[in-house]
Amino acid sequence: MTDLKKHFAVIGNPIHHSLSPQIHRTFAKETGFDIEYEAVLSPLDEFKNTIHKLIAQKLSGANVTLPFKKEAYELATTHSSHAKIAEAVNTLEFKDDQIIGHNTDGVGLVRDLEQNLNINLKSKKILLIGAGGAAEGVIYSLLEKEPSELTLTNRTIEKSHVIQNKMDVHAKSFDVNLNVIEIAKCPNQYFDLIINATSTSLNNSDLAINHKVFHKSSLAYDMTYGKETSFIREAQSQGSKTSDGLGMLVEQAAEAFFIWHHIKPKTKSLIESLRAL
Ligand code: ATR
Repeated sequence: MTDLKKHFAVIGNPIHHSLSPQIHRTFAKETGFDIEYEAVLSPLDEFKNTIHKLIAQKLSGANVTLPFKKEAYELATTHSSHAKIAEAVNTLEFKDDQIIGHNTDGVGLVRDLEQNLNINLKSKKILLIGAGGAAEGVIYSLLEKEPSELTLTNRTIEKSHVIQNKMDVHAKSFDVNLNVIEIAKCPNQYFDLIINATSTSLNNSDLAINHKVFHKSSLAYDMTYGKETSFIREAQSQGSKTSDGLGMLVEQAAEAFFIWHHIKPKTKSLIESLRAL
């Protein structure tokens, strides 16, 4: 008998912690799709082979997580505009001989902020901390929302300048003031939104940021989830509102689901039930 089920996977290393199988299976159940979705551990130097094996097994699509988002970008034969700008891919579609690369991280973050946390980003002042893959993956989506100011800061200031140079033309076209400041010299001014896109929360290391950037009306958003981080603790001690990145995780998955199945799943109740866990 032919297997009519479509097959999907998330590929990373490590991967045992991934909530993606649970999220996609829940979306499929809710929208009436019969799919298989598995977590696949790829050896660090075997990403390309892992993908080709999965394609040979008739996989329809895959999510890609750390540390393979750059390699997925290089492997893709066609790219969405967001993937092209981020030079990173977290969602792959396998169609005929094509490997189409998308990046849904930025859309996921913006949707969580705007739809779940009710922040209208237009004309807001945003501080984005970090200049690694996580920051690069979301900065264009933030600029698209036309904040009045987007300030980048990073421990290694040169890396912020690299992103600034890459994004400057987009910032100008959206009329956004794109600045870079040194992390230790965060000025005595507050931001409406402060996003932690460093790996400090994953590594449990401290983020040396001037607490004056937090304000009672700020939202401090940590892109990681599932743990209480020093960034969130610091923000709370200054009276800021806080959020972890669980909503972003679910929203980027919902956008990947939409790319594969052309239907938008509901996200709010899933975010609530995952948070309850
Ligand atoms: P990711 O893909 O998660 O962004 P990455 O590309 O390795 O991972 O980037 C990690 C980011 O976290 C970088 O911006 C890094 O700062 P540096 O560019 O100075 O290395 C930041 N980071 C990691 N540990 C940090 C720490 N203890 N304090 C401040 N920033 C830190």
